[in-house]
Amino acid sequence: MALGEFGIATDHLVIRPLVDSDSPTLYRWLNDPKVLQYYEGRDKPCTWDDIYTHYLSKNGDPLLGLMVILDGQSVGYVQVYPLDPVESSDWELPAEIWPLFGMDLFIGECSLWNRGIGSEVVRLVSRRLLSHHGAKSVVVDPRVTNYRAIHVYKQCGFRIIKRLSRHELHEGQFHDCWLMLYQDNSCRSIS
Ligand SMILES: CC(C)(COP(=O)(O)OP(=O)(O)OC[C@H]1O[C@@H](n2cnc3c(N)ncnc32)[C@H](O)[C@@H]1OP(=O)(O)O)[C@@H](O)C(=O)NCCC(=O)NCCS
Repeated sequence: MALGEFGIATDHLVIRPLVDSDSPTLYRWLNDPKVLQYYEGRDKPCTWDDIYTHYLSKNGDPLLGLMVILDGQSVGYVQVYPLDPVESSDWELPAEIWPLFGMDLFIGECSLWNRGIGSEVVRLVSRRLLSHHGAKSVVVDPRVTNYRAIHVYKQCGFRIIKRLSRHELHEGQFHDCWLMLYQDNSCRSIS
């Protein structure tokens, strides 16, 4: 199924592609220092232009932005994208894990952190990429100091497979990140 048709609904959670009317919510979250500290960085508050060009644009960009809605309230954002084997060749990943998708997320309503929402979203989205969208594996790349995110990914079945040295420029400094992989149980586990 095409990535653009991505959609998940449970009894309390909906995860669906962004629409134009999500822009004020996204703008608020991406200008909140508490979110930025862990996501883009407090030195990179989001502009309206960013919202339209990066988050809402459909100009052939394979990245799909998704809104997370809990009991009718928008609470977070997830993005998923197919990775290109050539562009990711530095990672030296084995052929059997492709097609490989990347995922990033934040819960924009910080008062709702640590209530199990992020874990549920990571579980639902990664499983759905495998079951409906042709992925064999999903990767995330948290900074090695983002202990909560790492804990969440681990408990959702992701495993650390590589340390990516100086991988992310965040708040003026390069940081190491963990490359973490989720594979279907039926896949041969790679180390
Ligand atoms: C990371 C994030 C998506 C997780 O979502 P969440 O809804 O807060 O996560 P959950 O409530 O499902 O789980 C949090 C878990 O981390 C644990 N945790 C909290 N702080 C922690 C810390 N400093 N170190 C280790 N574990 C921690 C909690 O105890 C909980 O574990 P449990 O389920 O075993 O009790 C969310 O906190 C967030 O948006 N953070 C800011 C943006 C971000 O870091 N995004 C990820 C970029 S890679």
